[in-house]
Amino acid sequence: MRHLLKLQDLTREDILSILNLADQLKFERINGVQKDYLKGKKMGLIFQKASTRTRVSFEVGIYELGGYGLFLSSNDLQIGRGEPVQDTARVLSRYLDGIMIRTFEQQEVEDLAKYGSIPVINGLTDYAHPCQVLADLMTVREYKGSFKGLKMAFIGDGNNMANSLIVGCIKMGMSFAIACPKGYEPDAAIMAWAKENGDFTITESVEEAISGADVVYTDVWASMGQESERLKRAEAFKGYQVNKECMTYAKPDAMVMHCLPAHRGEEITEDVFEAHAKEIFDEAENRLHAQKAVMVKLLK
Ligand code: CP
Ligand code: NVA
Repeated sequence: MRHLLKLQDLTREDILSILNLADQLKFERINGVQKDYLKGKKMGLIFQKASTRTRVSFEVGIYELGGYGLFLSSNDLQIGRGEPVQDTARVLSRYLDGIMIRTFEQQEVEDLAKYGSIPVINGLTDYAHPCQVLADLMTVREYKGSFKGLKMAFIGDGNNMANSLIVGCIKMGMSFAIACPKGYEPDAAIMAWAKENGDFTITESVEEAISGADVVYTDVWASMGQESERLKRAEAFKGYQVNKECMTYAKPDAMVMHCLPAHRGEEITEDVFEAHAKEIFDEAENRLHAQKAVMVKLLK
């Protein structure tokens, strides 16, 4: 494993090994015995979109492991003024030990890895959010003990989160069902792969998707960069909400997960969100541990 660009590039064993290391790093941190595995390592953190969790968990994560993180906003970098990614990659490779990038196009992340000579981590694109899904899988395993026989239901937009969750869950042997309106399906190639490699269902029926689910997941109706489609999307996604009624179709002990930020009253109701706040914020915390594990694997 040289980079983390998308979960398709990882084997099941790669993922398990990251999750095991993440558990160990979490244990070390809780017990005050965190080791400085990344002593002297420098990570550039490029952001072309807003972020709370990704930025803070990467900065704190590298600091706690003895390294140094540089927050690089695209507003201030020459890349924001049109310097090609090929050049940015080669320049940053001379200064840094690794790069995390949050941007729009997946191709930009792939190019950064192709032209640079240091590990690249995808901190979210329009296509994928692998760091989030590693933390999500870590959280599912913490709550459920293993992935065996579990079903995840995703309600809402077939976006970056849906794409990465499908790949992550199917690789770990979970069943996956998504309920989304027509025209908002996940990536076609990912769905075709999922159908071939596991138990994958896509439906317009929330009831069908949630039925018997162990984990119910949702995300915003309009992602970053889609702000102008907000009203149109609010109309299209009416009915694709995680609420008390639809939760009755899930298993009684079903978890509810959300990558955050959440829009209460849109993709999830306030009562369901608060009833499941423990797992949702454990999930957010696990970003820190999972990303530390990724950085240690790639940079050490
Ligand atoms: N879930 C997530 O990636 O959050 P941020 O956008 O705050 O980084
Ligand atoms: N789908 C959301 C996820 C945010 C973490 C977005 O891309 O804005």
